[in-house]
Amino acid sequence: MPLNAYWGPLVERSEDFADTSFLMEPLAIPEQQFWPEEYSSFGGLHFKETACKINFFDGTRDFRWAPATYELAPDGNTLCLILHDLYYPIDVRLYYRLHTEYDILERWCQICNQGTAVQVERCCSAQFSLPGTGYQCVNFTGRWSGEFQQREVNLSCGKQIFDSLCGVTGHQCSPVFAVHRGANEDHGSIWFGALAYSGNFKIILENICGHMLNILAGISDTDFLWTISEGECFEAPHLYAGYADGFSAMSHLLHRFSLNWLLPAETSHKTLPVLYNSWYATEFGVDDIQQHLLAEKAAALGVELFVVDDGWFKGRTDSSAGLGDWIPDPQKFPCGLSPLIHHVQLLGMRFGLWIEPEMVNPESQLYHLHPDWILQYPNREPLMWRNQYILNLALSPVQDYLFTALHSLLLENDISYLKWDMNRYAAEIGSRNVKPETWRSLWHKQVVGVYELAGKLRSAHPQLEMEACASGGGRVDFSALQYFDEFWPSDNTDPLDRLAIQQHYSLFYPIKCMRSWITDDFAFNGRRVPLRFAAHVAMCGALGIGLDLNQETPERLRSLSQYIEQYKRIRPIIQFGTLYRLNSFENTDTHIIQYVLGNRIVLFAFLQKGHYGRKLYRCCLKGLEPSSLYCFDTGGHHVVKSGAYLMQCGILLNLHGDWDSRIIEFEIS
Ligand code: GLA
Repeated sequence: MPLNAYWGPLVERSEDFADTSFLMEPLAIPEQQFWPEEYSSFGGLHFKETACKINFFDGTRDFRWAPATYELAPDGNTLCLILHDLYYPIDVRLYYRLHTEYDILERWCQICNQGTAVQVERCCSAQFSLPGTGYQCVNFTGRWSGEFQQREVNLSCGKQIFDSLCGVTGHQCSPVFAVHRGANEDHGSIWFGALAYSGNFKIILENICGHMLNILAGISDTDFLWTISEGECFEAPHLYAGYADGFSAMSHLLHRFSLNWLLPAETSHKTLPVLYNSWYATEFGVDDIQQHLLAEKAAALGVELFVVDDGWFKGRTDSSAGLGDWIPDPQKFPCGLSPLIHHVQLLGMRFGLWIEPEMVNPESQLYHLHPDWILQYPNREPLMWRNQYILNLALSPVQDYLFTALHSLLLENDISYLKWDMNRYAAEIGSRNVKPETWRSLWHKQVVGVYELAGKLRSAHPQLEMEACASGGGRVDFSALQYFDEFWPSDNTDPLDRLAIQQHYSLFYPIKCMRSWITDDFAFNGRRVPLRFAAHVAMCGALGIGLDLNQETPERLRSLSQYIEQYKRIRPIIQFGTLYRLNSFENTDTHIIQYVLGNRIVLFAFLQKGHYGRKLYRCCLKGLEPSSLYCFDTGGHHVVKSGAYLMQCGILLNLHGDWDSRIIEFEIS
């Protein structure tokens, strides 16, 4: 039985681990419950959450393994531990791939069956153990327009579960864990993991009798059942784990790994363009002439990508019709999209569109032709949400239809960006076209179907840029990151809420992929915020504009073009730099973020409410070269200071009154 010997900061001398006697201590206790197993099976003397549950044909439901064997992949970096069952011809294979350059360990698991078919009820991607007790864990709570509200839970007894049961990653929490004992931004041990999965997931953190922490992560076992026939394997999603000293260091590891390893390689090295999207300006009421005008205004500001959101396709006047028929609405666009696209391109911008491929409105040609393509229980009225049903992406005719429809849309029109939305959770996992005994596998097949479709589109259009949206931030995870270039973290664009959402998002997910728009629609809290503050908040991520440009004054348009110009100058630092969360409104008056890329630094500082006439706020920078000299402009003066000075003494930020903000750029002189 492979046991975990150690997880923590690097211990260079591997010979130290040759003596395994310290591992024998837990084994002296017969209950497997106390063993730091790398992968445990339901049953045995476990009495705790275990990593897999396999039902054999004869009723046996535990897996008992003979001593493990192992294989090392030719890349020299991937270890496979093979656990053979003592009786049945079945193996559990645990994979470990080292990403030494990023200090990340990738883990996943396969169950391979050589005998009579088995049913798998649970197959976690990985199990971890941490000795002792007193741990806490970070995750989020949230909902549509209130995503990524960071929370801390105490793991001193019982178990904590973070999961999704809605068929997509969801808004409620993230498929991640960051376990610690009072760590802060700069210091303290953090053991973290991020599951690459965009469907029902489950992260379990279980205190075992005050003795150790048992951590399991994988596809949720709720309503999950997968049959593995003779000669077949089931592979669980991959998980990326690591150890860091402080939350900053954890974010740096995950951000760098995401940028350099996970994001689609064709586009990951390119900066994301400044986009314009008229959703908040027009909602469904888009039309050719209005979009032509908006495009002219957007181009004049320096926008690089012009996106038409929901409302462009046949019959789509509101949310009640059109989904599924991916052709331009002849009333809104009498000559198709080509005239608008040419106009946009002549103005020097790229063109993008909104789609929601997994969905169908009953009011659509697709549904009239194929009512049996949706997920449903045949003897129940299908449950509607936002007037839409979910297509069963496990069916090959559905896959073929969607690929052909979207591929032709991209071929016939010069579209270089898609905002791929998903606006309802799944509820009835059944189908007229699938045998009921396999319905419980459809949750997972649906997720695989999304990846397949996205993957096929990307291979057919390698330069295509895609943004993942699911009613805002409902599909932000480390698997989506491998198919999409960017995320829409929330529909909430209120700058204050947004600063919190962005801050918490950045704990695990990379800034480059964080779309952030300047809008005027702060309906979420009915709050009006000065343009400068709103622009500075949006400039902290991948900038977009969501204002109704036809309503903007010349003065505000001039300011917008200046913000865009400044953003383009500092964009590489923001999108590819190292992020430091210096201060947060959650515990100070100011909210300060810093990005470092080579010899360039940019700092964003925000003050929401001034008090008692205070004008100066001291701020110490991070991540600089102590002996290098940095120059920057402040209060009309050109200043040169050493990195040591800026990190130890800091700078005095001149912020005053309500809604004040600053961007300061530094460069090594
Ligand atoms: C979802 C998205 C929005 C917008 C609408 C369009 O709500 O989160 O950004 O695209 O759909 O219907």
